[in-house]
Amino acid sequence: MSPHLEAHQSFWIASTLPSTYPALSQDIVTDVVVVGAGLAGITTAMLLKRAGKRVVVLEAERVGQGASGHTTAKVTSLHQLKYHDLIKNKGADEAQWYGESNQAAIEQMAKLVKEEQIDCDFERKDAYTFSEAPDLLNQVKDEVEAAQSLGLPATFERQVPLSFETLGAIKFSNQAQFHPRKYLLALAAKIDGDGSHVFEQTRVMTVDDDGPVHVRIQNGCTITAQDVVMTTNLPILDQGLYFAKTYPQRSYLIGIKMAAKHALNGMFIGTGDKYRSIRTTPMDDGSALLLIGGEGHKVGEADDTPQRFERLAAYAQERFGATQIDYYWSSQDFVSFDKVPYVGSLTPVNQHIYVATGFSLWGMSNSTVAAMLLRDRLLGQKNPWASLYDSTRSTPFMTTASLQNNLDVGTRWVGDRLKGLFDSPQQTEPGAGKLASQGIDKVAAYRDEAGELHQVSAVCPHLGCIVAWNAAEKSWDCPCHGSRFDVEGQILHGPAVKPLAAKDA
Ligand code: FES
Repeated sequence: MSPHLEAHQSFWIASTLPSTYPALSQDIVTDVVVVGAGLAGITTAMLLKRAGKRVVVLEAERVGQGASGHTTAKVTSLHQLKYHDLIKNKGADEAQWYGESNQAAIEQMAKLVKEEQIDCDFERKDAYTFSEAPDLLNQVKDEVEAAQSLGLPATFERQVPLSFETLGAIKFSNQAQFHPRKYLLALAAKIDGDGSHVFEQTRVMTVDDDGPVHVRIQNGCTITAQDVVMTTNLPILDQGLYFAKTYPQRSYLIGIKMAAKHALNGMFIGTGDKYRSIRTTPMDDGSALLLIGGEGHKVGEADDTPQRFERLAAYAQERFGATQIDYYWSSQDFVSFDKVPYVGSLTPVNQHIYVATGFSLWGMSNSTVAAMLLRDRLLGQKNPWASLYDSTRSTPFMTTASLQNNLDVGTRWVGDRLKGLFDSPQQTEPGAGKLASQGIDKVAAYRDEAGELHQVSAVCPHLGCIVAWNAAEKSWDCPCHGSRFDVEGQILHGPAVKPLAAKDA
């Protein structure tokens, strides 16, 4: 029998107190507005404040409750298997900048933890990418050679400190892990004050670059600033076409409580399609939590989302003897087609609106790299890695992956509308969500366990694709660019800035 799934929530959020910053309720003027209070936004704001800028952070929900509150929180420059491909596809210099910048991000975080005296379970750990299949082991060995040629701290290890057999791994020494929300909440508290502010439940609707930049929020207030930095996972502004230069990916995580003596001596990730990401983290009661992640898929493209948690649970039982899953949650990130984030100007003509997106599942180190790049850009300082991450670089639209993805989006936009009539919303079973027809309109219908029907328009307010039901999260997810909505149509995840339209029953 599979282990029982207990609390459906992120451990990082469950183990920290809620933040209580106010919503912005008046017009204000500042130097820099940062939109989005995840790791990229909060770190950018902190570095700019330390450099003497007044900053205002605007968060639509709460600090660190988006992608940064749902991560595995590994801080490493070992990004599964990356450097062999980067050298081949971009060149040795570019691969070196990627490795150097991610190594520098680890040290930047260590420096902030030390200098700001942040208690966030920051620990140095080695990172491993292991293989259990001979053909994949050759890829691991190629990665060791590539990483060593770039001067990265890489070795090949035949023995991997896990309780089950592997064929070997690449090891990066002296990487790190931490508790992301403890870190973010501590930094946010240091940003707020002395002319800088953090505002929560403050949703940005538009940004105009018309001399000074004007940021307009949902209640009609305006913030005037010299510069604006958009760190909302995917920019909520459509200029720059970042929604077409990335694709949204969901992944799944479970947490299993264990005795501290079983804490792992390292952070691990497998290879191949069915890879698992594995680490442990200390808990405040003195025990440890084993985290296992995997089962990723593009947003809106899996109708077996509950089974993905079940498969992770079965793995935890088989490999670690787990009998109960104490936490389970899922996460979302945006992957760029060349696997390198976009950091810099929103478009070539915008000199005062900046973005950071496309962290490609390695958002802890990459978002800190982004913060360092954005700090230097706004302060007018040169950064040796800027050209690699340039957000306006020519996009690999012609790669097979990007062509296929944008074809998929077009197919969803047209095909989902042309699908004939669905059932009536009334035929929705308790606990289930389904697309339904109401006249010629497509409706997203959910019936709760008490029998009440909740229905909203199925047309995504971002660019008009039809949303899909996510049974594990009980949410409506847009397969085109990853916007997500709850059963009442309220926004869970951008780029949409408006809810699904109401539909009367
Ligand atoms: Fe772009 Fe839905 S997120 S159309």
